[in-house]
Amino acid sequence: MDEFVIDGGRRLRGTYQVNGSKNSALPILIATLLTDEDCVLDNVPALRDIRTTFRLLETLGKKVEVSGKRVKVTYGKALVTHAPYDIVKQMRASILVAGPLLARFGKVRVSLPGGCAIGLRPVDIHVKGLEAMGAAASTKEGDVYLTGALEPSKVRFRFPSVGATENVMMAAAAVEGETVIENAAREPEIEDLGHFLTSLGARVTGAGTSRVVVRGAERLKGAHHRVIADRIESGTLLVAVAAAGGDVTLKGAVPSHLTALIKALRRAGAKVSEVKGGLRVRAAGRPKAVNVVTEPHPGFPTDVQAPWMAYMTLAKGVSRVKEAIFERRFLHAAELARMGARIEAHSESAVVTGVPELSGAAIMASDIRAGAGLVVAALAAKGRTVIQRVYHIDRGYERLELVLRGLGARMRRLR
Ligand code: EPZ
Repeated sequence: MDEFVIDGGRRLRGTYQVNGSKNSALPILIATLLTDEDCVLDNVPALRDIRTTFRLLETLGKKVEVSGKRVKVTYGKALVTHAPYDIVKQMRASILVAGPLLARFGKVRVSLPGGCAIGLRPVDIHVKGLEAMGAAASTKEGDVYLTGALEPSKVRFRFPSVGATENVMMAAAAVEGETVIENAAREPEIEDLGHFLTSLGARVTGAGTSRVVVRGAERLKGAHHRVIADRIESGTLLVAVAAAGGDVTLKGAVPSHLTALIKALRRAGAKVSEVKGGLRVRAAGRPKAVNVVTEPHPGFPTDVQAPWMAYMTLAKGVSRVKEAIFERRFLHAAELARMGARIEAHSESAVVTGVPELSGAAIMASDIRAGAGLVVAALAAKGRTVIQRVYHIDRGYERLELVLRGLGARMRRLR
């Protein structure tokens, strides 16, 4: 299994073109199940989770052709309506096939994803949303079965779940008439999916606000779409530069997708400025201690919480990190402690007492973003850090060692 070897203490400098968004590409790829016509997607990142999505689409009957960042999804054979456990267990987002397949074929069977390293992650909001549209749900031998002819409806979520919003939007796109989703998630990825569904021939308004209106059509057509920039890759790199010091321009980064993070970075003392077509970040020395609370968008993103905590371990003072989205997303705290960080982690919040420096150590990634947090710490630390279980990081960051080496880091992958 691969490891990252990072010799810390180097400032980061240069320019980097941000990749397409994993969490946008994923539901958009799945939305191609809504049509038999050809779909062409550009700016799709080459990541493990994206390759798992290709396999999922192929298992269901689609044909997938990849050429660089362009992916063409076409008709392969009549679609099947069962997403089996061996794929779902690799990627929880497989549950997103429920909405489009149910809407088109009146039935779907999806293995239930279990819990994962960052929390229990149930799918009740997805199921309730589809039930509100007329589905009947039952669970048997670890699979959820949904059946019924969906109707345009009013769906109100108890919590603005990103995946549930996407699932119901996709279902509604294939149901003639107007479906209204209230307390919808407002993430930029939802807006991107809205644009794609509109190009397929549905009409989506309000995506990116808490009230999304989908006017569906029985038959949807093919489309060409360019996936938005990855705000979490952008955010991770902003924090990495803030922690290690340096001057980096992220081309393609979208400032309006990163408002809460940029505000926190500025308060901590990093200089973040909008430049033509992207963002520039400059930083030197230890940051000020700044508290953050993760929240649904536009709040501080849970997916940048681990990199942020790594950054705060070097702050002058004590800061607090509250994780309000997932139950156990502090697994990186114990690894950071091995590098000399002082963190008192409870279930929902962590108190970080800044130290003047971190030192390299052998540590282990537990999920995508926890892994990214460890990379940030290693870049800022004195000495050599070896990070194991890099496959977690590869799920969400494309060749992170090449990206950071391009910016001057001493980092390599050991196979
Ligand atoms: C998406 O996950 C992202 N994944 C996650 O990114 C991200 O952390 C998360 O949104 C929050 O921003 C993708 O887009 C593929 P949720 P999702 O449904 O859709 C609870 C990464 O590192 N909940 O908004 O699964 C759930 O347990 C990943 O790239 C229910 O209780 O997030 C969690 O505590 C990790 N019942 C909270 O809501 C449900 O039916 C937020 O989940 C659904 C969710």
